Amino acid sequence: MKEFNLKASTIYLRLVTESDAEFICGLRNDETLNTYISQSTADVEAQKKWIINYKNKEKNNEEYYFMICRNDTDEVIGTVRLYDFKENPKSFCWGSWILNENKTKYAAVESALLVYEAGFSILEFEQSHFEVMKGNDKVHSFHLKMGANKISEDEINDYYIFPKLKYEENKIQYSRFLGS
Ligand SMILES: CC(C)(COP(=O)(O)OP(=O)(O)OC[C@H]1O[C@@H](n2cnc3c(N)ncnc32)[C@H](O)[C@@H]1OP(=O)(O)O)[C@@H](O)C(=O)NCCC(=O)NCCS
Repeated sequence: MKEFNLKASTIYLRLVTESDAEFICGLRNDETLNTYISQSTADVEAQKKWIINYKNKEKNNEEYYFMICRNDTDEVIGTVRLYDFKENPKSFCWGSWILNENKTKYAAVESALLVYEAGFSILEFEQSHFEVMKGNDKVHSFHLKMGANKISEDEINDYYIFPKLKYEENKIQYSRFLGS
């Protein structure tokens, strides 16, 4: 089992537990936040079962689901997940990225930087791949600004790659968000 110590200036990541089920249901079923994410259950017991099943994947190093928490109060403010681990090239997907209204101003930047820290530094991937639904304009801009490359699209999504080299560059350029 990998050890993660993922802390930035105003937020940190910790692995999900069964007791996060209610928060996750509320977050993913919040109509102001779920336009561009896949539908998931609003049933807390079903969500708990999903987390228990996920925990086996975590043990097998197949997937990691993190809660995003504030440093100042420990309040949980969102989620993010690393999954779909591939070989040749060694690449990870990330998503389930949601922050609620109690987020810190730069929680988005910090959580993305911590995802790359986990994927590249701890899990030793060479690149990241992910998709963003068409219409989620702010999120497309976010990824392009951070250095992702759009590689393809279909009617539903744009598909991006984020290379390890960009992560290395960002560690310096974005060091103030990481509190270093
Ligand atoms: C996706 C999500 C987590 C992003 O969080 P966010 O707070 O909206 O992110 P923002 O783009 O507003 O970034 C936060 C701040 O960092 C700034 N920022 C973003 N990228 C930056 C960069 N590369 N460098 C410096 N600052 C940056 C933004 O300008 C913003 O500051 P501002 O409020 O002064 O404009 C959030 O919008 C969300 O939960 N959306 C709903 C679910 C969703 O669509 N998830 C994505 C599915 S692909």
